[in-house]
Amino acid sequence: MSRVLDGRAVAATIRADVTTRAGALTARGVTPTLAIVLPTEDESAAWYVRSLQRAADKVGIRCQVSKPAAEAVVGDLDALSAAADVHGVMCQTPLPEGLTLAGVGAHIAVEKDVDGANPESLGRLAAGVADTFAPATAAAVLEILQASDVPLSGRRAVVVGRSTVVGKPAALLLLAQNATVTVCHSRTVDLPAVARTAEILVAAIGRAKMLGAEYVAPGAVVVDVGTNPTSDGGLVGDVDADAIADIAGALTPVPGGVGPVTTALLLRNVVIAAERSSANS
Ligand SMILES: NC(=O)c1ccc[n+]([C@@H]2O[C@H](COP(=O)([O-])OP(=O)(O)OC[C@H]3O[C@@H](n4cnc5c(N)ncnc54)[C@H](OP(=O)(O)O)[C@@H]3O)[C@@H](O)[C@H]2O)c1
Repeated sequence: MSRVLDGRAVAATIRADVTTRAGALTARGVTPTLAIVLPTEDESAAWYVRSLQRAADKVGIRCQVSKPAAEAVVGDLDALSAAADVHGVMCQTPLPEGLTLAGVGAHIAVEKDVDGANPESLGRLAAGVADTFAPATAAAVLEILQASDVPLSGRRAVVVGRSTVVGKPAALLLLAQNATVTVCHSRTVDLPAVARTAEILVAAIGRAKMLGAEYVAPGAVVVDVGTNPTSDGGLVGDVDADAIADIAGALTPVPGGVGPVTTALLLRNVVIAAERSSANS
């Protein structure tokens, strides 16, 4: 059976660090604060934002949520980017019709862009600029691999998915660790054969249990980013965990893998942003 890479344990370690750092900031009169712009009535977005609020509360981060109309989203993000008492800003998807992630992301100040939504943050990541916030989900892929002592340098990594929030930044982060990275997508020819070249396989597709045994080389480390809702209210990943259990060397579970680490890293980014801004003031 493959080793299970436990995201909840990794997240707990990160949260303990964040709690200490948030406490130190608060003791100095700086309350680390995350502002979330929630521009639609989408149920799963509202659920996610509530879970972020609870998680922030537990580690000592203040979390404020605004629900602007579509035409006010950009103005809200500009105001939050300028507000001295706000350290992290994010805009929760889905977006109202007519708005794009790149368009709204450009209105989040780079130093407060804790979920890497500003296209400038992605450019900085590609250019290797230090102190850049990567999208938290992509950063969670790296964090789980590194916390699990999976060697990356010189190893063949295949990322399936090329979105700007997961696939592309995950590929850039792996590349920065000297992995040899292949990025696949819906037009990739013979995806199973390409995926089987991977020593580290990252699935960020959004298709329930799509990657089965024919996609996984013996011993590969598989990171499953997918979160696909099931009819009974549960979640499944993009990987068919049962089918690859005796093939993969290690696998992140869904739920309990990338998801909790993503939330913990988002909160850590808020504390980092608050530390940087208080050091500069
Ligand atoms: N755990 C977390 O915290 C977290 C956070 C964010 C997202 N997610 C999950 O991660 C998954 C990916 O999210 P996303 O936002 O990156 O999704 P997305 O924007 O829809 O991108 C999906 C990517 O998968 C590729 N793809 C789709 N069908 C394919 C196929 N049959 N073969 C090969 N590639 C295929 C697409 O290729 P094209 O570019 O060619 O269309 C695209 O690049 C989703 O399940 C999402 O729910 C999880």
